Amino acid sequence: MSLSALISFSNPLSPAFHRSLALKSPNYSVSAAPVACLNVDVRAPVSKQNPSIHEKRSSEIIADDNKYIVGSYARTPVVLSSGKGCNLYDIEGREYLDLTSGIAVNALGHGDPDWVRAVTQQADVLTHVSNIFYSVPQVELAKRLVSGSFADRVFFCNSGTEANEAAIKFSRKFQRFSHPDEKDPPVGFVAFKNCFHGRTMGALALTSKENYRSPFEPVMPGVTFLEYGNTEAAVEFIRSGKIAAVFVEPIQGEGGVYSATKEFLQALRTACDDIGCLLVFDEVQCGLGRTGYLWAHEAYRVYPDIMTVAKPLAGGLPIGAVLVTEKVASSINFGDHGSTFAGNPLVCTAAIAVLDKIANPTFLAGVGEKGNYFKDLLVEKLGGNSHVKEIRGFGLIIGVELDVPASPLVDACQKAGLLILTAGKGNVVRIVPPLIISKEEVERAVEILAGCFPVLDD
Ligand SMILES: Cc1ncc(COP(=O)(O)O)c(C=O)c1O
Repeated sequence: MSLSALISFSNPLSPAFHRSLALKSPNYSVSAAPVACLNVDVRAPVSKQNPSIHEKRSSEIIADDNKYIVGSYARTPVVLSSGKGCNLYDIEGREYLDLTSGIAVNALGHGDPDWVRAVTQQADVLTHVSNIFYSVPQVELAKRLVSGSFADRVFFCNSGTEANEAAIKFSRKFQRFSHPDEKDPPVGFVAFKNCFHGRTMGALALTSKENYRSPFEPVMPGVTFLEYGNTEAAVEFIRSGKIAAVFVEPIQGEGGVYSATKEFLQALRTACDDIGCLLVFDEVQCGLGRTGYLWAHEAYRVYPDIMTVAKPLAGGLPIGAVLVTEKVASSINFGDHGSTFAGNPLVCTAAIAVLDKIANPTFLAGVGEKGNYFKDLLVEKLGGNSHVKEIRGFGLIIGVELDVPASPLVDACQKAGLLILTAGKGNVVRIVPPLIISKEEVERAVEILAGCFPVLDD
């Protein structure tokens, strides 16, 4: 390589430098390379660039992903590079209306300016210190979570599955603490059919889908799956067993968007109280404003001993939290649980920025209204379709159950510029848009979705 070629390759302003970065990083876009110092914008508008080059770039990135990344994800063949509000853009510049929110994470949409400001300012000051020190954002976030919920204390972690993992440990520890003289304190757990609590070994043991668990058996023993919504069976079982805790999603997300009834949750509460077992609400997907209530269980006026939250809390940065009553917290000692990254200043600052918006009653009321509007529109446009068995949901977590697999519809929508998810046995379209979605975007989404339905007849 000649000296000039070498210089141009390592020059951060050179196109070759940015191409090399793009090859190393799928998220790095050549078209986004800084050019301001050249005083001319040499970027061609994405739409005017040669489409065949972009096809190649996408397919190259997908090929590299297939080569270098452990193949545990069946990905949609789209390479996303930027987002704003409810829109996402792939590296070819195609725009998508995002009803997935990174699986119910991006509650404020993409690139919320207040969130971006809070995160960049905090990153400039202090990102991580570990939990051997105190830090202001962690305490501040915990105070806000406590003042806005049933809980007295918070434990931070990094994801939904970790939050449930911590809740499992806290439940066992609570039972040991409450039965100091018993050789065999209650250690069993109840979870429900169609539930999803995560992929790590404890949370996996509580997750009902057989094919998630069976390749990894033996998982944690002592979990019984009962029918979601069957009050009588649940009460009878809880009263008869040595149960440490009952784990339940007030609204099942992955399982197919099923909402509990008040009677069911209330009966679980009473049965747990009767035998001294803990009630854990997993609000990882349905919590934090998605239902139009800050916490889904507020709609039922039934309160847990422990609640696990994660996904939207830090607006896209990894966080999980376990909210507990003092009764539970008092059984936890130094060293019982911990995490290096959990609750660091950056992620907690991000979460404060999210909570500041979501916890606002006007914002929450808007979510409820938009959810009703979305569901009504779906019923109006799709209610008569022979493939639609049910349209259900709560706020902005909506399921459209089909009599056939939803994947052809998901693919057709993606090609038409709409991103949606599936749930249940793959026959439910799951709609979890950013909570900031506008009514116009709801209308556009329903129009695209309805327009793609004929693909189900092919
Ligand atoms: C209700 C529920 N609990 C737990 C989890 C696991 O969360 P994570 O993927 O952050 O580990 C999920 C993820 O979808 C979920 O929906």
